[in-house]
Amino acid sequence: MHRIIVDTDPGHDDIMAILTALAHSSELELLSFCTVAGNQTLEKVTNNILKVEDYLGIDIPVYKGCDHPLVKENKPQPAAHGESGMDGPILPEPVLKPQKETAVEYYKELLKKEDKVTIIALAPLTNLGTLLKEAPELSDHIEQIVLMGGALHGGNINKYAEFNIWHDPEAAKIVFDSGVKTVMAPLEVCYAGGIMLRETKRFNRKGKVSKLVKDLFDFYCRYAIDRGWDSTAVFDLIPILYLLNEDLFVQKKGKIDVILDGEDTQGQTLFKEGEGDHIVLIDADREGCMKIFFDAIDQLDERYI
Ligand code: RIB
Ligand code: CA
Repeated sequence: MHRIIVDTDPGHDDIMAILTALAHSSELELLSFCTVAGNQTLEKVTNNILKVEDYLGIDIPVYKGCDHPLVKENKPQPAAHGESGMDGPILPEPVLKPQKETAVEYYKELLKKEDKVTIIALAPLTNLGTLLKEAPELSDHIEQIVLMGGALHGGNINKYAEFNIWHDPEAAKIVFDSGVKTVMAPLEVCYAGGIMLRETKRFNRKGKVSKLVKDLFDFYCRYAIDRGWDSTAVFDLIPILYLLNEDLFVQKKGKIDVILDGEDTQGQTLFKEGEGDHIVLIDADREGCMKIFFDAIDQLDERYI
């Protein structure tokens, strides 16, 4: 059993990752969500996770995190996720409220008492960079950080960088230099374990959760369709799938350095194999990844009527 905190900026793919985790409650104990500015503003991404929890009738604690990067400016991404950060599904304003403590206060309080917690980071690393900068002694209390972020050969937000790292490279550098065991899922493995656009048609059917996923994909896949692609990555799914079945992935070990500035290089992740202990996922069994995702949504359709 992994006890996990999900650090997130929902975000269409964040929600699909969270749904997959919810379907595996016997392997993943979901302790909380910590939100952070990224895909959209802190308010909007927090609102999105609260809306989805209300839709499912669950109340996993939500802690609001940092509303802007350590040094850089906020750069929301309406092109990929819409003005709301989760365009597509029409969900009522949430009843559920976030907790009073901030995400960083929560992390500090929890990690002082526990040391067997895995943090799944699906967003810019601002919360974790702030935590490790203010309380570096707690790095020993984090079992591992499994993050979606980084790129080995080419970026999705500039020539070389992936969005989560680009949005707050200073925070990412703190995390990678902290000594915490880190597993990185860069863009390449997310595409290798991605979904064929034709496969998204399976969600066009009865089922409360399938309807949510269909509405998410209807908006999310525009980006791929506009570019004539026949598949797309569900980026944030990969860290969850890794926790559920490491054997789906080919991994390498090495050192990760982060470039902080430069039009083409801000957020670039430089992987030096064999020079460190960070794990980098470099390939995926796509069919195996998609089977876990599809089965998870099937299960949730049974659970949430
Ligand atoms: O680059 C992909 C990442 O940026 C994903 O986490 C997606 O949700 C966006 O935040
Ligand atoms: Ca995300």
